[in-house]
This record gives sequence, structure tokens and C-alpha cells, in this order.
Amino acid sequence: MFTYSYSFLRKRRGLQWLAFAAAALAVIAAGSSKARSTGGQQSILSIAEQRGLTPDDAVRAVKTFVPPGSHDEYLLFASGGHSGQLHVVGVPSMRLLRTIAVFTPEPWQGYGYGADWSEEALNEPLIGGGPDALRWGDSHHPALSETDGKYDGRFVYINDRAHGRIGMVDLADFRAKQVLQVPNIQTSHGGIFATPDTKYVHISSKIPALKGWDAQKGGRVTVNDHLNHFPELYRGYSTFVRVDQKTGRMVMKDSFQVELPPYTQDLADAGKGPSYGFAFINSYNVEMSTGGIEQGKPPIEVGASQLDFDYLHIVNWQRAEEVVAAGKFKEINGIRVIPLETAAAEGVLFLAPEPRSPHGVDVAPGGDYITVAGKLDPHATVYGFDLIKKAIDAKNFEGKDLYGVPILKFDAVVAGKVELGAGPLHTQYDNAGNAYTSLYLESAVVKWTLGPPYHTADQAFKVVDKINVHYNIGHLATAQGDTMDPQGKYLIAMNKWSIDRHANVGPLHPQNFQLIDISGPKMELVADMPIGFGEPHYAQMVKADTIKAHEIYDPGVSPAAMTRSPNAIAGPQEAKIVRRPGVVEVWMSVVRSHFTPDIIQAKVGDRIIVHLTNIEQTPDATHGFAVPTKNVMVSLDPGETTTVEFKADKAGSFSFYCTEFCSALHLEMQGWLIVEQ
Ligand code: CUA
Repeated sequence: MFTYSYSFLRKRRGLQWLAFAAAALAVIAAGSSKARSTGGQQSILSIAEQRGLTPDDAVRAVKTFVPPGSHDEYLLFASGGHSGQLHVVGVPSMRLLRTIAVFTPEPWQGYGYGADWSEEALNEPLIGGGPDALRWGDSHHPALSETDGKYDGRFVYINDRAHGRIGMVDLADFRAKQVLQVPNIQTSHGGIFATPDTKYVHISSKIPALKGWDAQKGGRVTVNDHLNHFPELYRGYSTFVRVDQKTGRMVMKDSFQVELPPYTQDLADAGKGPSYGFAFINSYNVEMSTGGIEQGKPPIEVGASQLDFDYLHIVNWQRAEEVVAAGKFKEINGIRVIPLETAAAEGVLFLAPEPRSPHGVDVAPGGDYITVAGKLDPHATVYGFDLIKKAIDAKNFEGKDLYGVPILKFDAVVAGKVELGAGPLHTQYDNAGNAYTSLYLESAVVKWTLGPPYHTADQAFKVVDKINVHYNIGHLATAQGDTMDPQGKYLIAMNKWSIDRHANVGPLHPQNFQLIDISGPKMELVADMPIGFGEPHYAQMVKADTIKAHEIYDPGVSPAAMTRSPNAIAGPQEAKIVRRPGVVEVWMSVVRSHFTPDIIQAKVGDRIIVHLTNIEQTPDATHGFAVPTKNVMVSLDPGETTTVEFKADKAGSFSFYCTEFCSALHLEMQGWLIVEQ
């Protein structure tokens, strides 16, 4: 059993290890023969000694260890920032399981290199013009689909910070199927969420844009004509994008927008339970500062912090549906828009003061509290939905803003204030009525209590614990902590800087995810995970067994439609090449370890269309189809049918091949494209 080395009893750690060893011995004595067999060659303590680990380290290791062949309990869907991707990480092991390309081409997934389903997603044209297709996005906030306020594992939506777009990933096959350009908004930040039934995916603008993107229609744009008339010419928009429940696709014709004042709308969250039908969006820069240092104006960071209050926007979207149904909208760039004055007059939009320049707005699991974090104010302000409802019904307004939007009385809607520390940003919740807020300036996470029914009035809105993180935390994610089914257990701190936490890999250090155990009264840091791929922004953590992705596709299924493709073939016997003027069309079967046909003849200038069917029905029997110099790279999962189209632009012989190490004869899986002059 244990060998005990006295040289290892360093003064500081010795007693801890003695206690730990006694406990470990007791556990192993009571344990199975399996547990005993693994300690055979080296004892746990001697390994710990060699590696310089403390008893606390050993506890951390045991808490996060997922044995070979076993699975993580949770999956973290983390945005990839300006990589344009989405990452899937196992919790508690903090291992990267999958990267999903959304806004950015990714050759190994056959995304953006000719495959029809990926071109359809990536080639969404920019409304108002722009390059033919964008080739990057700033993926920011994932929004998992929900049923009854709980993650349902069907789809995940993610917004593009740079262009106000939304990407849809189908979790049946973990592929991005649609990228939607949302009209009238140019940028977005955290204004995305799925409603508790995923009837809509919501996205709000960040920086207000010219009303209806007027400038894109060829008008003259000057500082004088535009920025100096900012309050009249610019607007924000709250967008409710309708979701097709079967496919997850976003349907523009059934969507609508609520026009907002040109305050800079920031994060947003969905009402649920009692607040179902409402959306909450906070804002900063109600001063409408545009910057203009050379024009003698203050920089935006100063101009936007002049007033003591900004506005929490309260959108009654069920009321908005009625207003749209009554025809009180304008169609602007292909979407129905409720004008600002209509929204104000019809009870669609209300404002509530929030202390200066807030950041996150996060609805509690019961849908009863809405936490707004202070950013420049050390407090969180907690609004009661019952109070908001009461104030709206009683028209308890302190006045109206410049645009006629009613402003609720601050004291009438605030349920509590909590002093948290320096730089509070975002809040998540557990299953015991506690809230967890990231403190950017303090590099910490603070745990505090909500009010009734979670805690009695005398225990409410109190800080109960705080833990340091490393360093500069932005978002945080607790297990299902933004749903009606929070789990407690785990919290991920998403830290922007890692400084000294990992091996130095150059001036650009990885970001640092930290896993914190929140199952006990004290938060415990258990693991660091360096993020060496982009700038993850926000993440959602879901029970792993909620996600039920396909192991294989049914024969001939096209990922684009998730139905059998009309171009699917059953096997090599159905493979064929059809030539017509200027076109060579190929129906090709793909299986270990050959393509049929394996020679394609074409003439310079021909359009070549290849319908590829991977006829395998074995999990992981993925094949690739890569054609040198043609920018063609398709990845075909078992059962998949995908079409690729390209031009035979010059004469030559080109050896196409399979990019996946699919079999012992993988290297032989190749063929020829012969292009004649
Ligand atoms: Cu198929 Cu390698």
C-alpha cells in the first residue's frame, strides 16, 4: 500500500499530508479491488511527492478527474470571440471536445470550402451591400434553445458582435446551418437570448445605427450631417427573430423589431415564469455622446458617464405581437418595425433608471428578480418583477424621456441593492437562491443572496462569500445558471488575462477559464484551463445528457435540410457522370477506401458539380474530398450527402484525395480530375 517518505514531510505540508494519507487509506481500505489495483507500481503519495503536489491539489485532481473512457457531466458552450467559432468544453475535466465553425471558414470541418450547406450559411449577403460574403465574425454570446425555461439541447444561437448577425448551430449534428443578417442593426453585444420556449431568438443592437441604414442607400455621410444629429438620426432595435421549431431556422417574415432610442443598448435577458413575455435590456450612454475629440468634445468614455443614471429597457414583447398583428408597424429592410413613438404609446416599451453605466442584466431562475450589475458602481441593483408590473399598471412614472418613453420610478421598482466590490459585471444563479457576480476590477467572484422566496428578508441581498480569480474576469457561467433549472455545482470564471498562470507562449497569453466548485458554502477553485484559441466571451453550461447528437446520418441525408438528399446514391453501382454543355455533373460514392468514379474528365471552363455520398454507416467513418488548387475541401460524415461546385479554370491533372485517416488504405483513397484544354 502506501510507502511513506519522511523526506517528503516538508514542514508546511507534512501535517496536512498525514491527515490526508490517513483519510485516503481509509477510503482505499473500504474501496473496491479496482481502486486498489491502480496504486500498484507507485503509491499516490510518492507520485504526489515527485510532482510537488499539496493535499489541496490532490483534492482538486480528484474533483476534476474524468477516468479514461468516461464522460463529463456537463458541456460548456463557449463563444470563440473573433475566431468566429463556438467551443464545446467538458466540465469538470475542462477538456476541449469540439470546435464548431460559425462565422469563419474552417477547412477541417469542410465549412466554407465548397460544401453546399456551409456556403448557404456563410454566403448570407449583407443588407445594404458590402463584400460578397463576410469571412469572419466576432462570436459573442451563445443562446441554447429552451423548452419550459430549460435547455432542451436542440439548437444553439450565437451572435456576431461585429455585424449584428446570428448564427444557428443544429445540435443534431453540431454544424452551423444558418447565419442571419438582422436588418437595421449594425453591431450587437450581449443582447441575445432565446425566449423560454424558443419561439423567438432575441437580438438587440449595441452601437445605435443610422435609422434604417440610410447611409447605405448611397446618401452622403459626413460628421456634420450625421453624428452631429445623432439623437434624431440614429436608433437602436430590439429584434424578435421567429424560430421554426422543426429546423431551428430563423424566419424573417415572421419576425419583428421594436425601435429603441439611440442609447447604447447592452446586454439583455428573457423574462420567464411570471415575467414571461418581457425582455430586459440595459443601456449606457443615454447621454448619446459620440466622441469627437478633434471637434472639442469629450471622448465617449467621458461623455457617456456624465449622468448618474442610464436606463433599463423593459420590452413587453407579447404586447408587441398584438401591436404588429394590429398592423401598427412599418416595414424597413424586410422586417416589420414598431416605431419608437408607437412602442412608447402602446405599452410596448418602458424605461427604469439604473445606476450609471451598468453592464450585465440577468433574470433570476424564478423570473422574479432582475439583477443589473454596476460596472462603475460597486453595487448590484436588483429589480423586482412584481414591482415593475405594479408600477406599469399604476402608471407610476417619474416622467418620460426625450422620445416619450415612460420612465418608471426607481424607488418603486428596486427590490434591493447589494454592495459587491469593484467592477461588478455579470450575474449567474445556483439552485439555492444565491447569485454569483463577476468583479472585473477586483478579479473576483462574489456570492450573495437573493430575497424571498429564496431567503428571508433579513438574510436577503447579503454577500456570503468571495473568491479571487486570475485575472480580469469578464463573464461567468454556472451550470444551467441562466435557466429555470439551475444546478449549482460548478462555476466557470472566464478570465481575460492569465499573466503568469500558464507557460509563456509569447506576448499573447491564453485566456484563462477557471473551474470553481460551488457545491459547498465556500467557493473552491479547482482547475485552470488555458484558452489558446480566440477570446471567449460568454458560455452556457448544460447537462451533457441533454444533448443527443446523431452518431451517423441516415443514408443519404443532407446536412442542409436534415432530410434525404435527392442527389443521394446507395452505392458505387449508382455512381455516374453526366455531361452537358459547360457542365460536368458527378454522383460519387465514398467509402473505405475509394471514390467511385475515381476519374473525372472535364474541359477548361466547365462547371464541375459533385454530389458526394458517404455510404458508410459506422460511427467516425468520416471521409474528406480535397481538390488541390480549387479551394475545395469537403468533410463527409457517415451517411452524409453533400454537393460541391467549382470551376475547371485551367488545364491539368489534379489528384483529389481523402483528408481523413479513415483506414489502413487511406493513402490509396484518391482519384484524378483531368481538365483538357
Ligand atoms: Cu477515406 Cu481516408
